[in-house]
Amino acid sequence: MTDDMNFTLSKEGEEKIGTLLKRYPSTRAALLPALWLVQDEAGWISDEAAEYVAAKLDLPAAEVYGTLTFYTMFNRRKLGRHHIEVCTNICCWLKGSEEILTYLKAKLGINEGETTEDGKFTLSTVECLGACGEAPMMMVDLEYYGDLTHDKIDEILKSLN
Ligand code: FES
Repeated sequence: MTDDMNFTLSKEGEEKIGTLLKRYPSTRAALLPALWLVQDEAGWISDEAAEYVAAKLDLPAAEVYGTLTFYTMFNRRKLGRHHIEVCTNICCWLKGSEEILTYLKAKLGINEGETTEDGKFTLSTVECLGACGEAPMMMVDLEYYGDLTHDKIDEILKSLN
């Protein structure tokens, strides 16, 4: 365990971690909710944040890193203000998700996994989002957008500040 404490939560976040530790039978059981809490507040989980959670929960840092690698819902890099996630699974792929992704890359001037220079957009791909009936689709900041066309994408991007 390391005591690297460069990362800290807000006072409220600290209190929530304290509540988690009381609620769960073991610190190990509190790991996922604690990581969620950190991501919710910081937007992503840096190495410093991972070390912070390990120290708080008195768990080996390796265990925290292992969990972060296993669960893809944790962001390991700082995201832009808006996170665009294009579904590239089979239904969306059959309906042109690759072309949608190409369009977004060209429009934003970034590749998959990158963030625009102004820090506004991060572009990612995801597996099936369970909305295959609306393929091709994408999610932006947890909101679903289906039946995508270039015009629709232009409108969506314009509506985001
Ligand atoms: S394949 Fe894209 S939502 Fe299911």
